Amino acid sequence: MLNDLDQGAREILASNDRGGYTVPSIGLYPYQWNWDSAFVALGFSTYDSDRAWKEIETLFSGQWSDGMVPHILFHENLEGYFPGPEIWGGIGPVPSSGISQPPVVTSFACRIFQKDQEKGQARLVKLYPAMLAWHRWFMRWRLDEHGAVCVTHPWEAGRDNAPDWDQAMTRIPKDVGTYTRCDVQHVAPEMRPRDEDYDRYIWLIQLGKRLNWDQEQLLSGNPFRVADPTMTFICLRAARDLLRIGQKFQLDTKNLESDINLLEDGAATLWNEAIGCYDSRTVPGEFTGIQSSASFLSWYAGLEDQRQLPKLRRALEQVRYPLASVDAESAKFNPLRYWRGPTWAFMNYLIASGLAEFGMEEAESLKDSTQSLITRSGFFEYFSPVDGQAAGGNSFAWTAAVWLAWAGPYAEDI
Ligand code: DGY
Repeated sequence: MLNDLDQGAREILASNDRGGYTVPSIGLYPYQWNWDSAFVALGFSTYDSDRAWKEIETLFSGQWSDGMVPHILFHENLEGYFPGPEIWGGIGPVPSSGISQPPVVTSFACRIFQKDQEKGQARLVKLYPAMLAWHRWFMRWRLDEHGAVCVTHPWEAGRDNAPDWDQAMTRIPKDVGTYTRCDVQHVAPEMRPRDEDYDRYIWLIQLGKRLNWDQEQLLSGNPFRVADPTMTFICLRAARDLLRIGQKFQLDTKNLESDINLLEDGAATLWNEAIGCYDSRTVPGEFTGIQSSASFLSWYAGLEDQRQLPKLRRALEQVRYPLASVDAESAKFNPLRYWRGPTWAFMNYLIASGLAEFGMEEAESLKDSTQSLITRSGFFEYFSPVDGQAAGGNSFAWTAAVWLAWAGPYAEDI
């Protein structure tokens, strides 16, 4: 059964479809983004599993020879996007950015297979070595000494201007020459990162390009390295899913068990007792001291740790449309500025799917509030958690996809 919003969500996926991959939002994000495509694949899988697999396969067509899967694939060269392929200078088979993004797609490929095993088995098994190579790339290049997974650019975490990076960002120079931001031509500047943040994002790209994205050199040369709950929890979950699938089909699972143990140790070091939450940590070892929505991905990572439950319950009550991306009682909270407060439907889905696996009732309440939010405000990129005001890009693919896969009243709950 389909209602008008289901139909609207499918129409967004259709109009953002570029044949084999889907753009997150026309104009604002006109290429293939890594974790956006993962959610899109989940959305497609509710009515067209072949198209779902194609989305994932197109993403892996851009995998670098070292195993990295870039965060943007520039399948075509368009005017009006900055920073485009020539600024990044990616070194893979498809023009790309030079950083990665959290590997949700590995876990979602397993979910899509679970739903339609007969058709999905061959496609999953074929993708497995590529997903394993990407996992190994994270283990080789992104771990800190404890086993937590670090990000080397705020865009790698996908939470671009989160307060988690404020302190580490002060170490990044801002002298990058002149350029024109395109994002603020599509979205009000007060809903996007500030110019001084953007300068630093660009400085990090210029550094990577100068070093030809050589990870060995970037390890010592990049002043931005933050151990991040988004990346750590999502990598841990992906590693568990890889092990399960690898064992089921007798594929290469070498070191996966020890990798999972190491990632669990790393995740444990992100616990910040002072705030009763998982938190980001800069590499010199200081916590940011801020509860973010990423803190609540611990259940998604398979960690049975209820110490965070009081904070989760509070986060579910403190605003009308949870979960705020930053604690709504923090001085850094801003309800409309991108990752400094707004609620994101896709993040709610990830968190709720982890909670549901532990049989926690909070999963249902998060789903209900996300359903009312999208019903009220449409398929926007993000929303004010205080009053549900729509924010960011419109006709946003991952919001539509999450509606189809989870938040909508007729969703099958993948
Ligand atoms: C990116 O490229 O991921 C950033 O979100 C751009 O806004």
